[in-house]
Amino acid sequence: MEIQNLNQTLKKIKEENYAILHININNLEWAKFVLLATKEANLDIILGASPSAIKYMGGYKTVVNLVNGLIQDLEIKTNVILHLDHGNYNDCINAINAGFKSIMYDGSKEDFETNILNTKKIVNIAKKMDITVEAEVGRIGLDISKNKSLDIQKTNIEDAKKLANTGIDLLAVAIGNIHGQYESNWKGLDFELLDKLNQEIKIPLVLHGASGIKEDDIKKAIKLGIKKINFNTELQIANAKALNDFLKNNNFLENKNYNPRILYANSNQAIYKCTLDLLNKYGKKN
Ligand code: G3H
Ligand code: ZN
Repeated sequence: MEIQNLNQTLKKIKEENYAILHININNLEWAKFVLLATKEANLDIILGASPSAIKYMGGYKTVVNLVNGLIQDLEIKTNVILHLDHGNYNDCINAINAGFKSIMYDGSKEDFETNILNTKKIVNIAKKMDITVEAEVGRIGLDISKNKSLDIQKTNIEDAKKLANTGIDLLAVAIGNIHGQYESNWKGLDFELLDKLNQEIKIPLVLHGASGIKEDDIKKAIKLGIKKINFNTELQIANAKALNDFLKNNNFLENKNYNPRILYANSNQAIYKCTLDLLNKYGKKN
């Protein structure tokens, strides 16, 4: 097996009330322990790689080779989709050239005409190479720690129809969701808007910023057409907490605790456990 596009997986889930999980990867350990959880659950998975995470890991080729290597060495038999997350036009081209089989062009910071135009160009290139494409309409918000000026713009239904008609495979919608941590006074997902979008748009819809959304609300969103759910922050917090606990309870200079294989053992397990929990909640056996 090697990295796949999303076609096979989407075919399987299209008519059913479950979704494919997208987990962002941040380093080797992330990719490895998400894949081990995937193997245990026997489910397909999307490994999301943002341009900044790709840069952190060394570059596009490194990430493609890393994930392909892990699929083989860990003997993963389900579909693993390495997916560029929130790429601009150039990021998409770089990902395609390096061997990604699935990409997201995020034109949400552009004006709508530019978003449409660039999405069409990307679709045109990607389709010839059997690469699946996600695009975004409206703007998913950022959490309080980020730039408030790039705040949420809920998806407009007519715009969504136009973007869906460009030939993309999935559409990321802005229905009150934000990236990062939700504030306690967050108003929740706009299910009425999601329901309307689901009736009008005939391609699978994507929920970004799923970390921190209640299980019942995510399950309701799945019933209303969400077919891909993106998680990053939830795993990052679980990972950081486990490392923090380890360092609070152990002297890093004793018992060779400074050895990364010991130091990161608990935080790696946190990635594994968090992924497995999410797969058990929202996925479905093949
Ligand atoms: O594209 C990535 C996701 O939307 C992750 O969002 O960090 O809020 O879970 P999150
Ligand atoms: Zn996102």
